[in-house]
Amino acid sequence: MSHPKTRYQPTEIAPDTFLIHNHEGEGEAPVSVALNTVLIRAAEPVVVDTGMKENRDDYFEDLFSLVEPEDIRWVFISHDDVDHTGNLNMLMDVAPNATLLVNWFMATRMGASLEVSPARQRWIGDGDSFSVGDRALYAIRPPIFDSPTTRGLYDPTTGFYWASDSFATPMLTPVRDVAEMDEEFWRDGIHLFDRYVSPWLELVDDRKFQKTVDRIEALRPTVMAGCHTPAIFGEHVAKAIAQSRLSPQGDVAPQPDQAVLEQIQQALLGLAA
Ligand SMILES: [Fe+2]
Ligand SMILES: [Fe+2]
Repeated sequence: MSHPKTRYQPTEIAPDTFLIHNHEGEGEAPVSVALNTVLIRAAEPVVVDTGMKENRDDYFEDLFSLVEPEDIRWVFISHDDVDHTGNLNMLMDVAPNATLLVNWFMATRMGASLEVSPARQRWIGDGDSFSVGDRALYAIRPPIFDSPTTRGLYDPTTGFYWASDSFATPMLTPVRDVAEMDEEFWRDGIHLFDRYVSPWLELVDDRKFQKTVDRIEALRPTVMAGCHTPAIFGEHVAKAIAQSRLSPQGDVAPQPDQAVLEQIQQALLGLAA
């Protein structure tokens, strides 16, 4: 069944740093989930994650409205989930001068699904940096993650931090900026996302978890974005960080279960009848 989908043009969230928007769920589910990527148009342009393959046409249209394929020099992948790697192989095909920034475990876990020669890869681990011509970027693991390969990306020249799956939230309707959301919904959404993405939060020593949040706070980001959140600016950065600190103790609704699936199946039967 078709449904209207809000189409946002890329948003410049910091100088030459563009959030490329996508989302799923609008008009179908109670909430929408963002599926964003970023382009940092440094002297050597950097693509940060590659989105879902289902959104390929819109993604490439947005990306190539900002940069020529042959000018892309780096493709940084935060981790090996399908919502971050959906257009990776095709992008590397059409961007002949790009080097893929992954790590050993990412390449290993992706196996044959990663169609990029090791000759075009560079392995960047947590804490590593790399030069993009006019600046160095730093790979820093966010506090919340659902793959052991995860690294975020920090740009000290703009104060921008790519949080991958951290600081994420569902949205009632798609928006560009968390400031457009009801604040209570946003705060609850961070807890929900954090606990669903990282159920091990309930098991960790809280002092150790807080240190992983301290590490991001110490970067003093002025703007954050992630795959599953609208842009986070200014005072909302501190709020997002503070809210994540409380996620291990947050009250979170259970995930949809078999009873919900049966409702969906009944609805499908009704449609087919
Ligand atoms: Fe993920
Ligand atoms: Fe994700």
